[in-house]
Amino acid sequence: MRSVFAIAAAFAVGLQMMPTEVRAAENLNLICSADVVICELMKGMFEKETGIQVNMVRLSSGETYAKIRAEARNPKTDIWWAGTGDPHLQAASEGLTQEYKSPMLDQLQDWAKKQAESAGYKTVGVYAGALGWGYNTEIVKTKGLKEAKCWADLVDPSFKGEIQIANPNSSGTAYTALASLVQIMGEDKAFDYLKQLNANVSQYTKSGSAPVKAAARGETALGIVFMHDAVAQIAEGFPVKAVAPCEGTGYEIGSMSIIKGARNLDAAKKWYDWALTAEVQSHMKEAKSFQLPSNKSATVPPEAPKFEDIKLIDYDFKTYGDPAKRKELLDRWDKEIGASAN
Ligand code: F6P
Repeated sequence: MRSVFAIAAAFAVGLQMMPTEVRAAENLNLICSADVVICELMKGMFEKETGIQVNMVRLSSGETYAKIRAEARNPKTDIWWAGTGDPHLQAASEGLTQEYKSPMLDQLQDWAKKQAESAGYKTVGVYAGALGWGYNTEIVKTKGLKEAKCWADLVDPSFKGEIQIANPNSSGTAYTALASLVQIMGEDKAFDYLKQLNANVSQYTKSGSAPVKAAARGETALGIVFMHDAVAQIAEGFPVKAVAPCEGTGYEIGSMSIIKGARNLDAAKKWYDWALTAEVQSHMKEAKSFQLPSNKSATVPPEAPKFEDIKLIDYDFKTYGDPAKRKELLDRWDKEIGASAN
């Protein structure tokens, strides 16, 4: 027995004497729910600056929420960066994420701080963006379609098979759309509207930005997405127009949360503080991520759709960030829309 302890002690002393480069690298298990290009950029920058190795997967917001719920007893993720705020709030309310008061909080916009306060500091806002759509200007022209400006335009029969939107179970974008329409029209009218829209939808995608990527490439005329995702396609050089719906629209507070029981808590906190810095957020435009950054000193890209120019509803994050409300709306969507989807 004694010899086992002696070996262990010698090993520990040896470890301390080893130069840092030779020691086992620190790891961070990250789920990223923004576009994969910004996910890769963030991973690369963080690894370079800290030496911490990031194991990253890109999953949509609703998929991530489902994953961390399923893994609650044995968490495999340390931090969840980005994705719409509602599922982060839902996760916070179910105790799936943990409280952390970052020293960076005072540098943030009020909407980002409010997001943290309302969730007992179990999440925080990292960016914001308004919901709308993007359409392919060439397809609209060649097919003689209307230049859709309002939600009401999208249910016109001329758009049959020409619209894509994500599935609200997997996608935070589509959940934001569902919750926004319910807030704009009232629940029953919103579901009537979604049934009419369903007749024009060719595909419910898994990821929120996929519909406008398809529109950009001429696979569909129009994708209901966050406006910044339409702007990203314009920046890529595609013939896309980004639209803010005339009746008003909802928006996201993209968020970040540390998972309860995170095995690499120190590394998770490092990422958390780092991702809230003005410097890091100012890099987002390099990945054509045109959301509004949460750090007050971060550079706002000129391409970013500005909230002052958009008719925004007073999105009720408390109600629609509630797990019971999510379940109720998604159950209804599955029954009335998903079940009869094309
Ligand atoms: O593509 C970026 C983005 O629109 C983010 O602004 C948003 O938080 C996220 O994607 C939502 O993705 P999804 O709808 O796939 O959950």
